[in-house]
Amino acid sequence: MDYETPQFFTVMQYAARADRDVVDMVSGNPDWEPPTALRDGLREYADGDVSDFQYPPSVGLTPLRDEVAERRGVDRSRVLVTNGAGEANHLATTGALDRGAGSEVVMTDPVYPYYAGRATLLDAESTYVSADETGQLDPADVREAASDGTAAIVVNSPNNPTGAVYPPETTEALVAVAEEYDAVLVSDEVYDHFDYTGTFESPLSAESDHVVATNSFSKSMAVTGFRVGYAVFPPEDGPMGDLVERARTRHMIQNVTGSRPAQYAVLRALRETPPEYYERNRERLRERIDRFTDALDRAGAAYTTPAGSFYVIARFDGFPGTMENVERLVDEAGVAGMPGEAFGESRADWLRFALVTPRVDEAAERLADYLG
Ligand SMILES: Cc1ncc(COP(=O)(O)O)c(C=O)c1O
Repeated sequence: MDYETPQFFTVMQYAARADRDVVDMVSGNPDWEPPTALRDGLREYADGDVSDFQYPPSVGLTPLRDEVAERRGVDRSRVLVTNGAGEANHLATTGALDRGAGSEVVMTDPVYPYYAGRATLLDAESTYVSADETGQLDPADVREAASDGTAAIVVNSPNNPTGAVYPPETTEALVAVAEEYDAVLVSDEVYDHFDYTGTFESPLSAESDHVVATNSFSKSMAVTGFRVGYAVFPPEDGPMGDLVERARTRHMIQNVTGSRPAQYAVLRALRETPPEYYERNRERLRERIDRFTDALDRAGAAYTTPAGSFYVIARFDGFPGTMENVERLVDEAGVAGMPGEAFGESRADWLRFALVTPRVDEAAERLADYLG
């Protein structure tokens, strides 16, 4: 599989060019409102003093870092505000490779394609550990795949594309593997607010020097265009203290800093948004998952019911998840999904559908009619 160029945009462009109505189930762009306080924060910002329109600290607005630090139970010095979780993942992975303690990146199959593309871009050795049919990862398999040459183990829970939420035992065992091989466990937690089981636990709670947690407000606040994320690095005064300093420098050289209005609005939303906002979004998705999987049943498809995130992967007999079939689905059924092959060999027969559209029912009917 060539991961160099993630295929999301290829599929989106194909769907946009189709000369028929197509339900977009490709992108991970939430279709619901951001928190009210986020819009309020943006409005307030527009009328602010010009001095607030200038560079914010490169590491991020101090009150935003404080707010994140408090929520994550860490010292502010460990928090770096980034250009989305995308940049946070990049800094964590490059930091792990720059240590010189290994040149291998261990990932899962299926994999979020940007991790794979990044490892290729950085000339790292890529190793994949297969998740099981439900998306769960056996830490014993990760231990077996890892070696002294492992720089980073990159995991994502709740998971895109499988919807798996790793239980705390898995997370703890993954931390132990990273410690055993002096590697960095990069824990991408962008879907932490979309855990329908209530069991998600960040490896940060293990208080290990071998964990970098990455996250963002893209999904939790429905603002993928704002580009505000963060990474929590190991303590500066610990054995992996260099990671945060190197990440700050790389972030500064690459971006100078982040977007101040976006950080300002996110900060206000973080402070003022009640838990009900997040619960409402989970409830909306639970309903969509039910309705979509009912239609998949009618179509005779195999699928995994997501325990977290907002994707469903499905397999239709005689209709493997190739790019060709994705194009056929766009043209003939009017539904755009992602080819399973984009996420690795283990899901080459599958298709991934993002449930972030109000047209889930319509898409489900179209799929059931076309493939049922
Ligand atoms: C697993 C995962 N990590 C990271 C991202 C990118 O997040 P951000 O918008 O915060 O860069 C996505 C977006 O879909 C994702 O699915």
